[in-house]
Amino acid sequence: MENKFFIITFGLTGSGKSFVAKILNKVIKNSILIQSDRVRKEMSGFSPHKKVIVPFGKGIYSQKKSEEVYKEMLKRAEKILKEGKSCIIDASFLKKKWRKRAKEIADKLSVKFLIIAPFADEEKIKKRLLKRKKDVSDGRWEIYIRQREFHNKIDEEEKKYTVFVDNNKGKGEVEKFLRNTLKLKTLNEQKTSGSNPQIKTLNGA
Ligand SMILES: Nc1ncnc2c1ncn2[C@@H]1O[C@H](COP(=O)(O)OP(=O)(O)O)[C@@H](O)[C@H]1O
Ligand SMILES: [Mg+2]
Repeated sequence: MENKFFIITFGLTGSGKSFVAKILNKVIKNSILIQSDRVRKEMSGFSPHKKVIVPFGKGIYSQKKSEEVYKEMLKRAEKILKEGKSCIIDASFLKKKWRKRAKEIADKLSVKFLIIAPFADEEKIKKRLLKRKKDVSDGRWEIYIRQREFHNKIDEEEKKYTVFVDNNKGKGEVEKFLRNTLKLKTLNEQKTSGSNPQIKTLNGA
């Protein structure tokens, strides 16, 4: 995939953001992956794999810390994009404010912007979270429950550049879907008139 993208993920803990972000990083040539879990720990002086289990919104997961983490990630992303690379940010982006900032950067630099939003059934998420062990994430079921209450949904405007990914499926299918999506986004961009009906239909799905 040669085109330049700025992609952010969106979703509750366990929805599969890191899973899809890694696939995107592999599929998009010359792309750099920024992971909020790593940046957060790095900024607090922890090693990435240190488990930091604190109640929702406390410690390194406080509002204040999160603000700092998002600012830092967007700063890094802007630098990466200016260097001519693609960038993927693996973070929850539950606040619209940060999604908006990311979109502004993409627009300013004329880079294709996408919100990739994986979703899965709650039972599946619960099972996957219980199985998740050696991982940089501290996300767990009780965090999922709280995040479900406190997040800004993708609005109608954002839906124009959001791709919802059915992450109930296995890796092969998810990867295939993502590859096709990126291909279509690239093609659509090249077709200024959008006159190819096939592309139009698939893209609108
Ligand atoms: N499509 C999938 N198939 C199999 N396992 C998955 C899939 N998506 C996610 N997982 C696993 O579920 C757990 C949660 O996914 P993860 O990507 O870490 O979620 P998030 O980053 O949104 O918190 C991880 O252990 C991950 O490897
Ligand atoms: Mg994650």
